Amino acid sequence: MATERTLSIIKPDAVAKNVIGEIESRFEKAGLKIVAAKMLHLSQEQAEGFYAEHKERPFFGDLVGFMTSGPVIVQVLEGDNAIAANRDLMGATNPKEAEAGTIRADFAQSIDANAVHGSDSPESAAREIAYFFEDGEICPR
Ligand code: PPS
Repeated sequence: MATERTLSIIKPDAVAKNVIGEIESRFEKAGLKIVAAKMLHLSQEQAEGFYAEHKERPFFGDLVGFMTSGPVIVQVLEGDNAIAANRDLMGATNPKEAEAGTIRADFAQSIDANAVHGSDSPESAAREIAYFFEDGEICPR
């Protein structure tokens, strides 16, 4: 199995619910290591840049508004097949469709406020990690 890195975000709804630790615990129990992390309150410009690939989609304004509504945790997870492993732990984008026991099934309330983000490919992981972290801020262990 390949060791990978993926960009994870604990979104404003989950931070507001005070379930950061419970979500981190799921990553750790699944064997993913947190190798970089910071809490940020994203500016409009940061959120628009991060989600630029969705800028023509009808929900873009709502997505940016939600992601700038409160602090988030941005972090890098490392482990075997980390990109797919993280997405399995997250569950479907719409929490109503998320499998029982996934983060979104347990902590998210709507497709807007869906608790977590995870990179969906090696290319997006590389771009998204570089968007938030300098090389020296990532601590392999
Ligand atoms: S994904 O995760 O990329 O496969 O999902 P996708 O459907 O392409 O959605 C991309 C991101 O947009 C968010 N989203 C929405 N936000 C607000 N309103 C609506 N209706 C909506 N639909 C999708 C979705 O949560 C994805 O955010 P991230 O942060 O990538 O998970």
